[in-house]
Amino acid sequence: MDSKVFYITTPIYYVNDIPHIGHAYTTTACDAIARYKRMKGYEVKFLTGTDEHGQKIQTAAEAKGISPQELVDRIHLKFRELCTLLNASNDDFIRTTEERHIKTVQAIFAKLIEQGDIYKGTYSGYYCIPDETYVPESSMGPNKTCPDCGRPLTIMEEESYFFRASKYVPQLIEYYEKHAKAVMPRIRYNEIMSFLKSGVRDQSVSRTTLKWGIPVPGDEKHVIYVWFDALINYASAVGWLDDPEKFAHWWPGVRHMVGKDIIRFHCVIWPLMLIALGVSLPTEVFAHGWWTVDGEKMSKTRGNVVDPFKMVKEYGLDPFRYFLLREVPFGNDGDFSELALVGRINSDLANDLGNLLNRTLQMIRSYRGGIVPSCGEYDSELCTMSANILERVDSAMNEYAFDEALKAVWEFIGRANKFIDETMPWKLAKDESQSARLDFVLLNLYEALRLSALLVAPVMPDTAKRIWTQLGINSAPVETQYDSFKWGNGAGNTIGESEVLFPRIDIEAWKKAKEEKKLQEEAAKATATIEHEPEISIDDFKTVEMRVARITKCEEIPRSKKLYKLEVDLGYEKRTVCSGIKAFFTPDELVGKTVILVTNLKPVKLCGVESNGMILAASVKKDGVSESLTLLKPEDENMPLGSRVS
Ligand code: ME8
Ligand code: MG
Repeated sequence: MDSKVFYITTPIYYVNDIPHIGHAYTTTACDAIARYKRMKGYEVKFLTGTDEHGQKIQTAAEAKGISPQELVDRIHLKFRELCTLLNASNDDFIRTTEERHIKTVQAIFAKLIEQGDIYKGTYSGYYCIPDETYVPESSMGPNKTCPDCGRPLTIMEEESYFFRASKYVPQLIEYYEKHAKAVMPRIRYNEIMSFLKSGVRDQSVSRTTLKWGIPVPGDEKHVIYVWFDALINYASAVGWLDDPEKFAHWWPGVRHMVGKDIIRFHCVIWPLMLIALGVSLPTEVFAHGWWTVDGEKMSKTRGNVVDPFKMVKEYGLDPFRYFLLREVPFGNDGDFSELALVGRINSDLANDLGNLLNRTLQMIRSYRGGIVPSCGEYDSELCTMSANILERVDSAMNEYAFDEALKAVWEFIGRANKFIDETMPWKLAKDESQSARLDFVLLNLYEALRLSALLVAPVMPDTAKRIWTQLGINSAPVETQYDSFKWGNGAGNTIGESEVLFPRIDIEAWKKAKEEKKLQEEAAKATATIEHEPEISIDDFKTVEMRVARITKCEEIPRSKKLYKLEVDLGYEKRTVCSGIKAFFTPDELVGKTVILVTNLKPVKLCGVESNGMILAASVKKDGVSESLTLLKPEDENMPLGSRVS
């Protein structure tokens, strides 16, 4: 039989950066699975935390002019806040700068030295500093860049301790051959198997080039490589070092959830370390896909990093959680767009779920005084379907297929909505002889909602609770066992107050507001960088003489890329003017145009041509160069030439 211990972990996040939607994704997925398993009667431990050592952190601290410890103390709080924000039900939060972890890492390092699985040697290779990883020459990008992030690699040579990873590769292959679910989804399993079969070198696991790390026991010139340190968190949190009983209890149920970016560390290096330590391997490692934003890679330089705090504030927590887990098949890459989120809120949440709740409660209130009727038999199609949905949800959740589980739930919700349309309770209510039938319909709808709340609870715990409150049930769905649910048990309940679960978002108004906000932001950005001239008096301004003129000739100046030589007619005289507008017009386009000319500028020679005035234009400049340009003209182009502008 399947063991009832379930220990799920997120990666521990680097604190050199603040949390974004990617971190929110993994944490939400782990939370949903943890909540689900608890409701299925499992004893669950859900661990998350922060990865606080290494070059990245040291560099980030230096850039801020603070100590690494100060930096990690400050930023790790953001990740705790993320847990609170997401309503994550984690049982523990581990930091790699904690004593319990440092001691475990050092003990493991010492044990592996002692048994000959860590030895001293020299390492030289191409290293990606931001990613903290050596890159083998075979997988370098063009011009010696990191294949993952594209940034230039640096050659590093150092004395280093090595972990004898190569030695245990055959054992790991054998394990994976027997445990097809140890790496999920299948595509990652295949990827890891072929990687393992191509051979794994011994791994450098210490550094002499940085200070911010856990010292190698007995050789303090070295600090332990951040990945060797970080992976061990999963073991330090459950007592590997000093609580063998606790460790033995949790470890056989361990599952790691990670993004596909760090799968080799979790499915190659970590299991090899565990084999060397004589510890059993993780039951499952699931590597989910990557989020892009509006079709683009998320990056600080692009400025398109999605802030979960902002999303939750704007759309509410449960819709955000629902969207993350429903929108993309878990394991696939996905694209985040607020428009898609709004679409899901309107259709799935406000329409399907919200309406089912509203309609049902309203009917129970008006036809049965707010008391859920009982009836002789419960055997409706909905009741039959419910058993089937529970099974489908279970098998989907066992595959971490959150989207499939939610799809099944929404099929059920859809069926319940259709049940209303088919049975037409409003007609039944008008016919006294149909009273028993109406009881049957209302009870079945009520039960469908009671179960729907349970089914959505792992993903939307707060919403589930709100539904039950409206149904007049005081306990919390997340604290309820699926097995305790019995169709029909809701009979006799008195329903609570109704409240709109998810207000519909008016898409047109929403789009308009977004557009306006974008314009405002752009305007704010533009004014923030505008350079203003010193104040002048009206008398100063009056000294500039400007008049309406017409371009009558336009010639190229052979030596100039930017300038045209123009002849302009002021009515009372014709003049030659040089104007730097060649990039924007052909001569044909210019001849005949009415323009505004500054007429009292001191003449200057430009590329050998004397210029006697300046044509006014508005332009958008970037780095001092005009990107777009338009000429000023009087609204009425038939104004007499030479008219004064003031
Ligand atoms: O790698 N889409 O930490 P990290 C989906 N400290 N998930 C994303 C994502 C995106 N665009 N961006 C980040 C580290 N993630 C190490 C882990 S574990 C022993 C040490 C998620 O802060 C995803 O889970 O770079 C990914 O694996 C993780 O954040 C990387 O977080
Ligand atoms: Mg990363």
